[in-house]
Amino acid sequence: MGKQRTAIVTGGASGIGRAVAEALALYGYAVVVADVDADQGQGVANAIGGQFVCADLSNRQQCRQVVDSTLAQFGSVDVLVNNAGFQHISPIESFPEEIWERMLSVMLTAPFLLIRYVWPYLKTQGWGRIINVSSIHGQVASPFKAGYISAKHGLIGLTRAAALEGGPYGITVNAICPAYVRTPLVENQIHAQAEARGISPEAVVEDVMLEPAAIKRLIEPQEIGSLVVYLCSDAAASITGAALNLDLGWTAR
Ligand SMILES: NC(=O)c1ccc[n+]([C@@H]2O[C@H](COP(=O)([O-])OP(=O)(O)OC[C@H]3O[C@@H](n4cnc5c(N)ncnc54)[C@H](O)[C@@H]3O)[C@@H](O)[C@H]2O)c1
Repeated sequence: MGKQRTAIVTGGASGIGRAVAEALALYGYAVVVADVDADQGQGVANAIGGQFVCADLSNRQQCRQVVDSTLAQFGSVDVLVNNAGFQHISPIESFPEEIWERMLSVMLTAPFLLIRYVWPYLKTQGWGRIINVSSIHGQVASPFKAGYISAKHGLIGLTRAAALEGGPYGITVNAICPAYVRTPLVENQIHAQAEARGISPEAVVEDVMLEPAAIKRLIEPQEIGSLVVYLCSDAAASITGAALNLDLGWTAR
């Protein structure tokens, strides 16, 4: 790599985003961690020698601010990893309407806005990598996750549309679709799922989370970090518009 490249990682304060930020920093990127969690976000940025921008991505102005501060600090942006997200478990009939709206806002509208704001810079420099962290629930559904599944399916559509427009400008756009990854999001979900289904937390892991998988284990966040680094490399220059499953064989049947 010649000039140091700059990467924005949303939701970089925790879990997958943190592992992605660490992997990109190790690979030589200047990393901007954008997150609503100021304490943890600043901590990650300090640990990797990156920058932290505090932003609630459900807010359009704050999405804009993430890109503006990156440009002010580093003068360019090369990679955008749309990763921030959260889960809510509830049957449709009682699914809180404001949570539905927030889910679509953080996990679908914010990626669109951030792509829109970085696009002119990627286009001008003739190189860019956009990686959207969708989910295996962007490919298939499970009960009690209507908001999450709708946002993650939509994010794959956005990925494909942007890939077609980015092709002529050296911009690749891909989605990553993991099954269950060992992060706080999943730890919290085990209890919520146990309540929604009326089963024990152990049964949630064995019979729900790992039941469809050929490989019976949780994915480690570093596995996603490695895939992001690969997608940013020249070796992955032909991969665009893809929705790459890290699903332990979930969708093989
Ligand atoms: N853990 C899994 O099993 C799994 C599987 C597939 C996809 N994913 C996706 O991976 C992404 C990261 O998940 P994780 O498991 O690392 O979760 P996590 O809870 O550990 O981290 C999510 C991060 O997003 C941030 N965030 C949430 N709302 C935000 C907002 N409004 N503005 C800014 N930041 C916000 C949180 O503060 C947190 O730091 C999510 O999009 C999630 O849907 C996770």
